[in-house]
Amino acid sequence: MSSNVLLGVTGGVATYKSVEIARLLKQKGYRVRVVMTEAAKAFVTPLLFQGITGERVSDSLFDPQAEAAMGHIELAKWADVLLLAPATANSIAKLTYGLGDDLLSTLCLATSAPIFVAPAMNQAMWHAAATQANIAICIKRGMTLLGPGEGEQACGDIGLGRMLEPQDIVEQLLGEKQEGSLTGKCVMVTAGPTQEPMDPVRYISNHSSGKMGYAIARAAHAAGARVTLISGPVALPAPEGVTVVPVITAQEMYEAVMEPVRDCDIFIGAAAVADFRPKKCADKKLAKGDVVVDLVANPDIVASVAKQYPGVYVIGFAAETHDVVNKAKEKLFAKGIDLIAANEVGVAGRGFHSDNNALIIVSSQDCELIELDTKDSVAQQLIENISKRYKNHAKATS
Ligand code: C5P
Repeated sequence: MSSNVLLGVTGGVATYKSVEIARLLKQKGYRVRVVMTEAAKAFVTPLLFQGITGERVSDSLFDPQAEAAMGHIELAKWADVLLLAPATANSIAKLTYGLGDDLLSTLCLATSAPIFVAPAMNQAMWHAAATQANIAICIKRGMTLLGPGEGEQACGDIGLGRMLEPQDIVEQLLGEKQEGSLTGKCVMVTAGPTQEPMDPVRYISNHSSGKMGYAIARAAHAAGARVTLISGPVALPAPEGVTVVPVITAQEMYEAVMEPVRDCDIFIGAAAVADFRPKKCADKKLAKGDVVVDLVANPDIVASVAKQYPGVYVIGFAAETHDVVNKAKEKLFAKGIDLIAANEVGVAGRGFHSDNNALIIVSSQDCELIELDTKDSVAQQLIENISKRYKNHAKATS
């Protein structure tokens, strides 16, 4: 990576961690210039960043000392990369709306350097629909999300939204993670069930625990990929280093996938998407009795990705009770996808809720078996298999 890092610091408890980010980058020989918002200065003084970076800290759009009094343009051109850390919910919202009401937001608009965003906020703010919509826009516009991580938060809540540790942010920013079979690749994974509401208290869903999809996301991250996990409602911790986008319904999952997947190399649909949803969600709880619920089909996400983005390598899952390979092949052709990872369900000790699984990888040419093992081990073998096939496929189509 080139040498000039513009570190945008917004105001939150995680602001103190940005000092360490600046120090690590300096230690590695990068020039670091820091731009702070007013709120950031309430947490850490500019003097501390100045001491660490050896550069004057900028905080005002109207800086008479900046070249031609155009500090934002000068800094925007200087940056080889812009890292927003911590990125508060407010600063992310400003990014998506293109606001320029202070130096940092104006720089984000004016720079042509790649933008990396390390979110830091309370878990409820991270899960808020507005934040999730903003995050989806950031990803769609080509910004790279670093985290957030999961754990205890300053307010005492536990959940997603913590800023990643400085060392992780710097490693990911500089692409220093160990070379893996998917280094430099972008992978999107769907996981878990979807819930399709029928009335305010009831929904249609299925038994998916999300364990397989989460194991796949972890394995893809360990193989060096930048991973986005679109997750239905599950009771699992967010995988470290993976961007998790929580959704509830199939329609929400479809919307969270369809635009951002455009920039991905590989899409793995491990979610058990509900095939149908109630045509109408009643406003009030339905009374007991002869309730008739009309169902409509949900969009098929893997098939839509394959159809709309032929450049993306698409893997689907098939859970079958019998005649697994033939049924998987039928699905492969019907959905127009590259691979199916098929598993037999209804067999004790594997599949739904179990920690173990076995898969048959089915392509139009061949089948390969991944024998019964832990889901983590099966996921690692699946990722290695996919990366080998993806490379051959990329060679053949280039
Ligand atoms: O058609 P079936 O549900 O058996 O196919 C399973 C595969 O298709 C899985 O990869 C699942 O994630 C995906 N799927 C989807 N959208 C749906 C239904 C299934 O992406 N609406």
